[in-house]
This record gives sequence, structure tokens and C-alpha cells, in this order.
Amino acid sequence: MLDQCLVLCNGKGGVGKSSIAAALAAGAAVRGRRTLLVDLDPAGSVDQDLGYRQTGDSDDGRALHRAVVDGADLTPVSSVRTGLDVVPAGDFTHAVYARLAARDRRVPDVIAPLEALGRGYDLVIVDTPPATQVALDVAFCLARFLVLPVGIDTGSLDGLELVSDRYHVVRSRGLNPTLEPLGVVLFGMDPAEPRLAREVRADVSWELDGAAPVFDTVVRHRPRAARDLRRHGLVPSEYLRAVWDARLDPATHPGADRLDDGAAGLAEDYWDLTEEVLARMDERLTPRPAVAGSAPATLPVGAGRG
Ligand SMILES: Nc1ncnc2c1ncn2[C@@H]1O[C@H](COP(=O)(O)OP(=O)(O)O)[C@@H](O)[C@H]1O
Ligand SMILES: [Mg+2]
Repeated sequence: MLDQCLVLCNGKGGVGKSSIAAALAAGAAVRGRRTLLVDLDPAGSVDQDLGYRQTGDSDDGRALHRAVVDGADLTPVSSVRTGLDVVPAGDFTHAVYARLAARDRRVPDVIAPLEALGRGYDLVIVDTPPATQVALDVAFCLARFLVLPVGIDTGSLDGLELVSDRYHVVRSRGLNPTLEPLGVVLFGMDPAEPRLAREVRADVSWELDGAAPVFDTVVRHRPRAARDLRRHGLVPSEYLRAVWDARLDPATHPGADRLDDGAAGLAEDYWDLTEEVLARMDERLTPRPAVAGSAPATLPVGAGRG
């Protein structure tokens, strides 16, 4: 298990796991933390968010597959940003999961190379696929902290049930007793509807009954910027810079008028979120006198409903 490791997870897709993973990873690297992003979603989009899919630098999970099958050293794609390396995912990741499904293979075969590589970094961020138990088991054996993105619809809360189930299994079997929820990120909130965001925050807090605090920072709904980000392989702060550059020099940036003016707000959200996540992690990792029963054995998802 890696202390400096957090996993983005929710059994539902489309709740912002990959967008947040990319922005946090790039944001932490900018702050001088040597960061490794581990992509465990063969069908995910974090590779497009960071742009190494578009540049042809993804290995489709080949390095992880070779490390698991042949015991080769795991080599990441290095420097997708200054201070940020990546273990990509793709078709070979499917093969890793198929191998794990075989009866004699165990999750530790996959953890070992990731753990050995991850020890060389200040921070490891894991992006996971929706509804894939085996990927969650790998991530939950590797990481110390869960970061749980949730959208405005209650369906994304249902997605926490799979998370809660695997969290319970991994902890109760002693596979990773230190795993703990770090917090919930409210994703895709309309800044024009602050009341709605407050309602969602109250619902989530009620559902989770204090098992995972909700981060103060919410990520605002900016569909135009989100589309541009993924298309161009830019994280929000980089997109904001591109918008500014284009505004300053419209002649060399045809189409600049179509860039999203709301980019500044989105970049600000991710700046604040990165600060909050890193601060909360640092606080949890600061040695303190032991307190009995500090992390809940289960996430009480669904407790407040019905
Ligand atoms: N701030 C945002 N506002 C609106 N849509 C967004 C925003 N950020 C990302 N998106 C879009 O939301 C969708 C889901 O995001 P994604 O990060 O891929 O979720 P997940 O990894 O949970 O499936 C994608 O189409 C993405 O482009
Ligand atoms: Mg994703």
C-alpha cells in the first residue's frame, strides 16, 4: 500500500473521475510534487484529458501487462508534464484483468509493480473505470485514500454502493486496513444555481452520514470548456492560458472567439480543489496519537434513503 496515493472512484460513469484525476495530477505536479498517474480504465479518457493519447504516447497498458506477466520493471510514460509521469491504460489492461479473473492469479501480482514504481513519487493518483470490481480491488489494495466524485443526479450516489461494497471487502479481509475516504467532490454544479449545489451537498452528507466529508470546493458545469479541454489535451489552467493568449493575439488564433470565457472559473475551481485535497492528505498523514476506530468499516451509502 502507498500512503501518498489516492484513487478516484464511483461505480457510475460520467461523474468526473477522469477530468478530476487529470486536473489534480497536473495541479500537484505544478506545485512541485513528483506525481504518477495510474490509469486503470481501459475505456477511459484521462489520456485525452492530458493529451498523451492524441500525441500517440500511450502504450495502451502494455508496460503494466508486461510487468504483471513477465515480471519486467514497470516503466511509465515519463514527463507528460514537468514532474508528471503516467502508467497508461488500454487493450492490454483488459488482458491484465482477464488474467486476474483466472483462478490462480491474485491482485497482489498487479499491485507489486505499481507499488514498486509508485514509491519513487510524492503522489500517486489512480483513475478507475465505472462498474469494474477487479479494477477497484487493485486500486483499493494500492491506495490509502478514496476521492469520490458525485454529480447532481442521485444516480451518481447509487454508484457509491459498489465503492462501499469493495471498500468493505478490502478492509475486512485485511487486504488494506488503512484505506480511508478522503472526501466527496461535487462535480458539474451550475454556478447560477447555488441553492441546488447546497441541496446536493446536504443530500450527500446525509447519505454518507459523516463517513466521507464533502470538499468545500465544487467543480462547476462548463460543457464548452470541457469539450475543448478533452479535444486539445489541456487541463483547465492550461486552457485558461490558451484563452488569454488567443484574446491577446486574435490574428494568430482564428476561432478564439469560440473559446469559453468561463475557463477562468473552472481553472479556479481546480486550483482550489487541488489545494484542498493535498492539504487534507497531508493532514491525515501527519503522525498523531492513535485514535481507536478512526475510519468507518463501511461507507453507509443508502442509509438515509428509502
Ligand atoms: N466542468 C465540466 N462541466 C461539464 N461537463 C464536464 C466538465 N468536466 C468534464 N465534463 C464532461 O463530463 C463527462 C464525464 O466526465 P469524465 O471525467 O469522463 O467522467 P468519468 O471519468 O467519471 O466517466 C465528459 O464528457 C466530460 O467532457
Ligand atoms: Mg473516466
